[in-house]
Amino acid sequence: MNKIGVVTGGGDCPGLNTVIRAVAKAAAQRGWETLGILGGYEGLLEPQQYVPLDYKAIGGLLNRGGTILGTANRGKFSAKTGHGETRQLPRELLDGVREGMKKLGLGALVSIGGDGSLTIAHQMCEAGIPIVGVPKTIDNDLHGTLMTFGFDSAVACATDALDRLHTTAESHRRVMVLEVMGRYAGWIALYAGVSGGADVILIPEIPFTYESICAKVKEREALGKHFTLVVVAEGAKEKGADFVTSAGQEANREARLGGIGAVVTAEIEKRTGKESRNCVLGHLQRGGSPTTFDRALCSMFGAHAVELVAAGDFGKMVGFVGAGVGSVPIIEAIGKLKTVPPDGTLARTARALGISLGD
Ligand code: F6P
Repeated sequence: MNKIGVVTGGGDCPGLNTVIRAVAKAAAQRGWETLGILGGYEGLLEPQQYVPLDYKAIGGLLNRGGTILGTANRGKFSAKTGHGETRQLPRELLDGVREGMKKLGLGALVSIGGDGSLTIAHQMCEAGIPIVGVPKTIDNDLHGTLMTFGFDSAVACATDALDRLHTTAESHRRVMVLEVMGRYAGWIALYAGVSGGADVILIPEIPFTYESICAKVKEREALGKHFTLVVVAEGAKEKGADFVTSAGQEANREARLGGIGAVVTAEIEKRTGKESRNCVLGHLQRGGSPTTFDRALCSMFGAHAVELVAAGDFGKMVGFVGAGVGSVPIIEAIGKLKTVPPDGTLARTARALGISLGD
C-alpha cells in the first residue's frame, strides 16, 4: 500500500474538506500518496478525473466549506431511488471502478458520504473492492455513529436562524415558521428547536395536527406572549397525510422534500387569525465553515479511516461511538434510517419544557 483514493458523494455539507485534509495528512504520515477523485465515484471511470492531495493541495482546507473534489447525488452511481428504496449497481460499473483503481495504483478507497454513497460503498466491498466509509450528512440519519459530521454545523445554522426570527417575531407579534432540512429524520429540527427556544417543533417521526399547533399559539396569547416560533422539518407531515414535495420524482433519485413550512404557516394564520410568516432555511444549512465540534469529529474520522486502511479492515465505516471514534461494518449503518425516537431524551426534554411537538 502506498497510494489511496478519497471520494466524496451525495449532498455536500460543512466538514467534507476537513475529512479530506485529515485523510491526506494521516496517509502522508505513513508515507502514502493520496489522490482525490473528482465528481464522485464517476471520476474513477474513463476519462478519469483526480487530483493529487499533496501538502500544497490541502492547504486551507481545515475550515473551508463544501468539497474541493466536487460531489454528485444523481447519475450513474446513485443507489437511492424514491423514498429510501435502493438499487443494485450494474456489474460493469463495479468492474469500471476496480479497473480505474488499478490504473491509478490505488490500494484502497476512502468513501465520504451518507446513506446513498455508503450503500454503494457496501456494494463495492461485496464486489471485492477495498473500501472504508466516513459518515457524512447534515441529516444525522445514519446508524453506527452517534453523530454524522455536518450535523452539528447545520444545527448551529438553524439555531442562529431561530435566534434571529425570535426578535422579529416578538417585534411584530407574529407566528414565525422555520422550515429546516433533514429529509425523513427530525434531528435538525429537534436539536435546533430546543436550542433556539422554539415553541412548536414538528418532525417526521411525530405526525402533527393543526388543533394541537394552534392550541399552543392560543395558550401563549393567553399568557401574554404574542408571538410563537415554529420549527418544521421538511419531512414533517400532518396526521394521515403524506410528505410535501417540492418537485416531481426523478428517476434514480430521492424525492425532493420541501414546502411544508408554507402549508403550515397558511393554516396557522387561517385558524388563529395571527399574522404568520414562513422562512425556508434551505441550503444555508449545508454551506460555510464547519463548527469546532465538526472540525474535531472530521479530523478523528479521517485519521481513523486511514488506520482502518492500514489494518486492511475494509467494509467498515468509522463512527463516533461516545467514548471516541470506532468503526462498524458498513452494512450496519445503511438500509434503515436512524430516526428520532419519539420518546427519546431530547423529545422528552422538549415536552418537559412545554414545547409542543404538534401531536
Ligand atoms: O441529505 C441532505 C439534504 O440536504 C437533505 O436534508 C435535503 O432533503 C436534501 O439533501 C436536499 O438535496 P438537494 O441538494 O438535491 O436539494
